[in-house]
Amino acid sequence: NPMDARALKIEAARVALGHVRDGARLGIGTGSTAEEFVRLLAEKVAAGMKIIGVPTSERTAALCRELGVPLSTLDETPELDLTIDGADEIDRHLSLIKGGGGALLREKIVAAASRQMIVIADESKMVETLGKFPLPIEVNRFGLKATELAIAAVARELNLSGPLTLRMTNGTPFVTDGGHFILDASFGRIPDPRALSNGLFAVPGVVEHGLFLGLAQAAIIASANGVRTVHA
Ligand code: A5P
Repeated sequence: NPMDARALKIEAARVALGHVRDGARLGIGTGSTAEEFVRLLAEKVAAGMKIIGVPTSERTAALCRELGVPLSTLDETPELDLTIDGADEIDRHLSLIKGGGGALLREKIVAAASRQMIVIADESKMVETLGKFPLPIEVNRFGLKATELAIAAVARELNLSGPLTLRMTNGTPFVTDGGHFILDASFGRIPDPRALSNGLFAVPGVVEHGLFLGLAQAAIIASANGVRTVHA
């Protein structure tokens, strides 16, 4: 039920807000869960809390502006205290799949520039093994076909298979904030995310991929039974 799902996202966001200290330099994620966080954050800002936010997408930046959350850029503020973001899948080591919303490149740059990353999600995002959610791979537009073949070869080497689908929007390829395309890789199961990450980065046309490994220290997970925090 989408109403319940939204309520859980809000609960996770509320607990995450408790980790934001006055004066924080804050990375702000992208997606429906991160947007609930922005709404709660905006209320705190309106009540006098001082933070400076660095958004992970144009979409998040627009919402922050609309709600009066003060923003900086990563160029002005290259070191952040904390990033709060959603995820598409989370395993018990806090390895993540992100990029369902297409913001993976900026999300990863911002997370990596933060001393801490906290993931917020409802229980449905927790998985035993990553990969049921198609892995977003951001690729340069040049040589798309060659890059696709090279990714398929990397996958085969790791005994992974499944379609690579060019992400589309309204009949044309989806273009990221960075001006790239996204291939969604439906591997089904990714037993060794680190090996896949290394393999993908060896392909020149790959700009970034949605496996976030070793970046999150905590995940705040909301379920009908309450909110729990999972530590890496
Ligand atoms: C955006 O690119 C993604 O990484 C999002 O963080 C992820 O898709 C989670 O989005 P929802 O909170 O909407 O599920």
